[in-house]
Amino acid sequence: MKKASVILDKDYQIGPIDPRLYGSFIEHLGRAVYGGIYEPGHPQADELGFRRDVLEMVRRLGVPIVRYPGGNFVSGFNWEDSVGPRDQRPKRLDLAWFTTETNQVGLHEFCQWAKEAGSQVMYAVNLGTRGPEQARDIVEYANHKGGSKFSDMRIANGHKEPFDIKLWCLGNEMDGPWQMGRKTAYEYGRTANEAAKMMKWVDPSIQVVACGSSSSEMPTFGDWELTMLNECYENVDYVSLHRYYGNPTNDTPGFLARAMDMDEFIHTVVSVCDAVKGKKHSKKTVDLSFDEWNVWYHSNQQDEEIWKREKWGPALPLLEDVYNFEDALLVGSMLITLLRNADRVKVACLAQLVNVIAPIMTRNGGGCWAQTIFYPFMHASRYGRGVSLKTLVRTPTYDCKDYENVPLIDTTATLGDDGSISVFCVNRDLQEDFALDVDLRSFGQLRLAEHIVLHHDDVKAVNTEADPDNVKPAAGPGGTVDGGRAQIRIPALSWNVIRFEKP
Ligand code: AHR
Repeated sequence: MKKASVILDKDYQIGPIDPRLYGSFIEHLGRAVYGGIYEPGHPQADELGFRRDVLEMVRRLGVPIVRYPGGNFVSGFNWEDSVGPRDQRPKRLDLAWFTTETNQVGLHEFCQWAKEAGSQVMYAVNLGTRGPEQARDIVEYANHKGGSKFSDMRIANGHKEPFDIKLWCLGNEMDGPWQMGRKTAYEYGRTANEAAKMMKWVDPSIQVVACGSSSSEMPTFGDWELTMLNECYENVDYVSLHRYYGNPTNDTPGFLARAMDMDEFIHTVVSVCDAVKGKKHSKKTVDLSFDEWNVWYHSNQQDEEIWKREKWGPALPLLEDVYNFEDALLVGSMLITLLRNADRVKVACLAQLVNVIAPIMTRNGGGCWAQTIFYPFMHASRYGRGVSLKTLVRTPTYDCKDYENVPLIDTTATLGDDGSISVFCVNRDLQEDFALDVDLRSFGQLRLAEHIVLHHDDVKAVNTEADPDNVKPAAGPGGTVDGGRAQIRIPALSWNVIRFEKP
């Protein structure tokens, strides 16, 4: 058995974990909304048409904030289409995903759903085909108490109280050629600045997220952040990051190392934000919103075929990645990476939540089930609250195609409000178990409360409606705690949660 160790200290803290680190995302895309969270006529549908079984699964995940309504979709979206009497809402061609949007779920319905899910809404405005004026209007519609054109429209549409949406995205991926109304960094920075200013004049209590690069692979990455922040730094609160990984060459060690790329991406964006801060002699710090992250590649080919067959159909089954066990391990390492950077990453959204590259799958008229990636997210969201701890990790490493010195044991830890400690750990070793020594001496007496493990002998194992529990967490081998030192056995190729509590 190989050996690794981690030292934790109560005074050695990264900082408080913003609960919004466990956000997710619902876009008007594929079957996320229609056939996902909403399916009137389904045996589980409530009086509004929302599926109770899906809501229950979302509550299990514990998602404090949900980004909505896009995504690429938002860059051609008119928010006015999605409010008012449903039978008068227009059907529109959605040029982002080549489908037809029926607008049967809109702002009011989604806010109601989010409330039932126990989530806040993070609302994206359209800065693609539209601009600061319409962004200002929807803030007035959603958040102003009444006595003005748009707030009175909300009241007339049946919602007297403001929706009080606190976090707003200033468009989506505005650097991408695939985006409706794509802009240069300078054009976007100017537009974002004016939109942010006007939105905050309507409601000074809101926070806004400026679009960073749509991936660290973009040729404009870095320059984009620098140029656009130069134009809008003082009026924005966060910069967005988006990143998806895949394993198309079936290289498991290389795939599992991808969290290192995520870490580098975060550090680069932090550096650019702080460079602009320094250059402007600003007192204000712009933090990060990693508002799209996940594994995404399984469904690419399938989507091309769907578009060939059914372009413009409503609720096409797009981006329906079926996640396997190794995907869950990378998602675990991505969560660990977010926790390690919790001092600067204040918001993060697993993209997405239901059916579309999602932890939760549904069948129209049928059941719903948890994909493999559901579990690491649920564990981190449930146990990774409080304070993120700095860790001193000693572990053997490996080299792969794109990275050297990849830690075989990828681990971090959190300190809960009740004094409990949660250690999250991915063993990237394909063959060998590890004996992990956890030094907890500074925390006083603790007992090993639980060791949860997600493992499957087949890295390509998946969950399906017929076999929903093929990959699911189980009790781990655990270990001993003696004199503030724990010895825990970490199985080969596994995701682990080790929880220590006061006796
Ligand atoms: O999450 C799927 C898509 O990925 C989003 O619409 C877009 O923002 C990104 O490219």
